[in-house]
Amino acid sequence: MTAAHKKPNTCLERTDRSAVAVEVAGLSKSFGPQQVLNDISLSVKPGEIFTIMGPSGSGKSVLLRHIAGLESADAGSVSINGQDPREPETRDRFAVAFVFQAGALFNSLSVYDNLALYPLEHRICTKRQIRERVMRALQILSIENAAHKLPSELSGGMRKRVSIARALVMEPQLFLYDEPTSELDPIMGATIAEIIATVREQFAVTSIVVSHDRDLALTISDRVAILKAGRLLAIDVPSGIRASADRQIQDFLNPQIDLRNPRFKQLESSYD
Ligand SMILES: Nc1ncnc2c1ncn2[C@@H]1O[C@H](COP(=O)(O)OP(=O)(O)O)[C@@H](O)[C@H]1O
Ligand SMILES: [Mg+2]
Repeated sequence: MTAAHKKPNTCLERTDRSAVAVEVAGLSKSFGPQQVLNDISLSVKPGEIFTIMGPSGSGKSVLLRHIAGLESADAGSVSINGQDPREPETRDRFAVAFVFQAGALFNSLSVYDNLALYPLEHRICTKRQIRERVMRALQILSIENAAHKLPSELSGGMRKRVSIARALVMEPQLFLYDEPTSELDPIMGATIAEIIATVREQFAVTSIVVSHDRDLALTISDRVAILKAGRLLAIDVPSGIRASADRQIQDFLNPQIDLRNPRFKQLESSYD
C-alpha cells in the first residue's frame, strides 16, 4: 500500500447522502404584471425521476429555479427534506446539482478542468480523490477521450454529457436537469435519456427533469407533470398521461398541423 492510501479520507463527507424528497406547496410567482407560476403543488419522492413537461414559456425553468433555491416565490414554498433550498444550511447539508440548458461550461478550460474546478476550489477532496471522481464521471458518460479537449471542440451532445458529468462529480442527492435533450438529434436525445436513467440507478438520486421532449418524459420518468401557462394540468405516471382524455394534454402530446390552413394550400399550389 502506498503512502497516499494510508492518508485519512479528506473528502468532505456528508452525513446523509441518500436521495431527497422535494415538496412544492402553493407556489406562485409573477414577473411584473405577468403571473408565471400559479399555485403549483407537487411532491417528488426520494429516488424518483419526475419530469415537468409543457410548452415553451409555460414556466418550467422558473419552477426548476425555485426548486434549486435560485428564485424567491411570491407565495407558497419549496422544501428539500423539509428544508428551504434558499437557506445556506440546506445547501451545506444536501448536494443539489443543476444541469443548465446551455451547459454553462467554461470555454477556456479543458473538460477535465471544468469537472475538477468546483471540488478543487471548495477543497472538497484531495487532488487524487478529485481525479478519481472526475475519471469515474467521464467513464460513466463515456467521454474519457474528451478529457483534454475544450468545450468548443465538442458536439452539442458531448457538451451535454460534460455538463452532466460535472454535476456527477459533486455526488448530488438531487439532480435538476433543464431541457437536457434540447438542440440534440433524436438519437443523441435517447442517449441522454438513457444516461439520466443510468445516473439514477447507479447513484439512487432524486431527478427532476424539465423538458418539452415527449419521448424523454414518457420513457424514463416515474411520473410526469404537465404545466401550461403556469398552471399544473396533471400529474400522473406516463401511461396515465398517454391515456388522458384531457384535450389540452392530448393537444400538447400530439400537436397537429392543420393542413387546411390556407397558407399551406398556397405553398402546395406554388409547386404545381
Ligand atoms: N427573470 C425573469 N424576468 C421576467 N420574466 C421572466 C423571467 N424568467 C422567466 N420569465 C418569463 O416567464 C415565463 C416562463 O419562462 P420559463 O420558465 O423560462 O419558460 P419555459 O417553460 O420555456 O422554461 C416566460 O414568459 C418568460 O419570459
Ligand atoms: Mg425553459
